[in-house]
Amino acid sequence: MAYSDKVIDHYENPRNVGTFDKGDDTVGTGMVGAPACGDVMRLQIKVNDEGIIEDAKFKTYGCGSAIASSSLITEWVKGKSLDDALAIKNSEIAEELELPPVKIHCSILAEDAVKAAVADYRKKKEAQ
Ligand code: FES
Ligand code: FES
Repeated sequence: MAYSDKVIDHYENPRNVGTFDKGDDTVGTGMVGAPACGDVMRLQIKVNDEGIIEDAKFKTYGCGSAIASSSLITEWVKGKSLDDALAIKNSEIAEELELPPVKIHCSILAEDAVKAAVADYRKKKEAQ
């Protein structure tokens, strides 16, 4: 199966690969897996005092589409409020990357990772 140019670009030059300290209370960590293929994605957001995501990092063990989806979403969430980040739909990722139907679940993984990261961050805030 052929990957789109955008997938190849993100796959070859992934943006924002890395990790933040999980214990930092300005960091939210989302870890999700795709039962269909076993791929795993970890996405972390760093949130400033105004509730804006100022930075994001990811590590993904998976196919090219999963890596491209996570790379793209780290770019998209930066500068957004938590609610705006939650509003990103996997269909927008799939459209931007021109994912074929069998690779749609890779973009769902990225949407789910954002939701998990925001939930983790909010849980930490409530616990304070
Ligand atoms: Fe092989 Fe996702 S199915 S890496
Ligand atoms: Fe499963 Fe891409 S094939 S995440």
